[in-house]
Amino acid sequence: MRAKINLSVLVSGGGSNLQAILDGIDSGTIANARVALVISSNPDAFALTRARKFGVETAVVSAAIFPRESRRTERMSELLSKAKTDAIILAGYMSILPAEIVRAYEGRILNIHPSLIPRHCGKGYYGKRVHRAVLDAGDSESGATVHFVDEGVDTGEIILQRKTPVLPGDTVDALAARVLKVEHEIIVEAVARTCATLSERNAEESAGGADDGTG
Ligand code: GRF
Repeated sequence: MRAKINLSVLVSGGGSNLQAILDGIDSGTIANARVALVISSNPDAFALTRARKFGVETAVVSAAIFPRESRRTERMSELLSKAKTDAIILAGYMSILPAEIVRAYEGRILNIHPSLIPRHCGKGYYGKRVHRAVLDAGDSESGATVHFVDEGVDTGEIILQRKTPVLPGDTVDALAARVLKVEHEIIVEAVARTCATLSERNAEESAGGADDGTG
């Protein structure tokens, strides 16, 4: 049996995307993976309650607890390493990931954004502000995007996008709810694909290690 892929999920709020990942692992849609750690930037995030219900280790790394950014980075690195993190998932995470961590896990960090990137993304575009911008722009459709995280904001390579219509008379809340459903679908699909790729890579590496030509 291949070693499970260890996911560390970073959250700040309700944790519905985390819940989708936990349920996706439970149902087998996300194969051969486990959520090893949930880190929240907000001590009151309901996402922490969801994690604890699933017996997942949790931690809070916030500016209130660690005022110095360098200490926050150090603490986050320690936690990710202790959890033997194979991939990091930003699921409603409202802080910016330190560049040092982005570099250390390059190509293995996913983020879910509630719009069709490159529309309505980048600095200042998060949560309901995104849907407000969609409505103000008069867009006829919106959706969600999962992308790899690089050192920019919402600029990494796109993994998966899915559209949903903007309906006449939509309020921000109505559009947010419709997009959130799409987020839950594509975060599970994107995490499943990433875990499958990482499992394959691990298998090749261990096979390659076994056959080091001394046999
Ligand atoms: C979602 O719209 C997500 O795209 C945004 O935060 C919202 C809440 O996510 N980043 P969750 O319920 O905490 O996963």
